[in-house]
Amino acid sequence: MTTTTPAPGSSPAPTTSSKRPLVIGPPEGPEPPYPLRMEGKVIKGFGRGSKELGIPTANLPVPTHTPSWITDIPSGVYFGWASLLLPPSHPDYIPHSPTNSPSSPSEAFKIHPMVMSIGYNPFYKNTLRSAEVHILHPFSSDFYGCEMRLLIAGFIRQEKDYAGLDALIEDINTDCEVARQSLGRGKWMPRRGLYKDQGEAGEMDCEWLLRPLSPTPEGKEGEGVENGDGGEKKGEA
Ligand SMILES: Cc1cc2nc3c(=O)[nH]c(=O)nc-3n(C[C@H](O)[C@H](O)[C@H](O)COP(=O)(O)O)c2cc1C
Repeated sequence: MTTTTPAPGSSPAPTTSSKRPLVIGPPEGPEPPYPLRMEGKVIKGFGRGSKELGIPTANLPVPTHTPSWITDIPSGVYFGWASLLLPPSHPDYIPHSPTNSPSSPSEAFKIHPMVMSIGYNPFYKNTLRSAEVHILHPFSSDFYGCEMRLLIAGFIRQEKDYAGLDALIEDINTDCEVARQSLGRGKWMPRRGLYKDQGEAGEMDCEWLLRPLSPTPEGKEGEGVENGDGGEKKGEA
């Protein structure tokens, strides 16, 4: 693990603030350019999320081509909705329910709230830009290789360096609470029936998260797919 002890004479690493706002974004719902879309097969990161932080992350490949909103977007922490297509062999697989309208029982994406980090993880000093998603749902097993889609609904904060692991963990836990509270509002919640734990009717258009998989064009297997303009286009890694 890379430690982040500040160099003598440099300013100390920022500490977490217990006074951070827990609700982000207007009550009217996500504002442009959000929601932004991203999708791809879950890839392995360095594995520190589960082991060191106790906060597992599912990574998506970040396309390096430009122009691309994900290479241009500020590094930082974002929140929104994720959908995941688990195989029937996964212990958390839930058989198809009619509300999800999949094309077949094996194509049942499930929606969960998420927080994610896009950037270089200054605490760990990564050299490549990564997109790491923490899904706010307790999974009993990994799901590398599974299809994941993201509707990124808003920006929470810039990514930071920290004096220690505890401060990073505390800030990520606050990010999770921000996501829960912000997404718990009507205009930010998926329409009724799309999100399994949903008691109240939401108004956010999340249909894309549940759309059946389209056939993968040759040579595009496992690449990140994204758009930021409301249409759908494939990213080229
Ligand atoms: C919601 C969230 C916020 C994060 N914020 C930061 C941050 O401010 N600074 C940072 O260096 N890393 C941040 N990270 C990234 C974690 O350090 C990263 O997930 C961890 O290094 C695990 O990555 P790995 O599994 O690829 O090893 C954040 C991750 C998440 C999910």
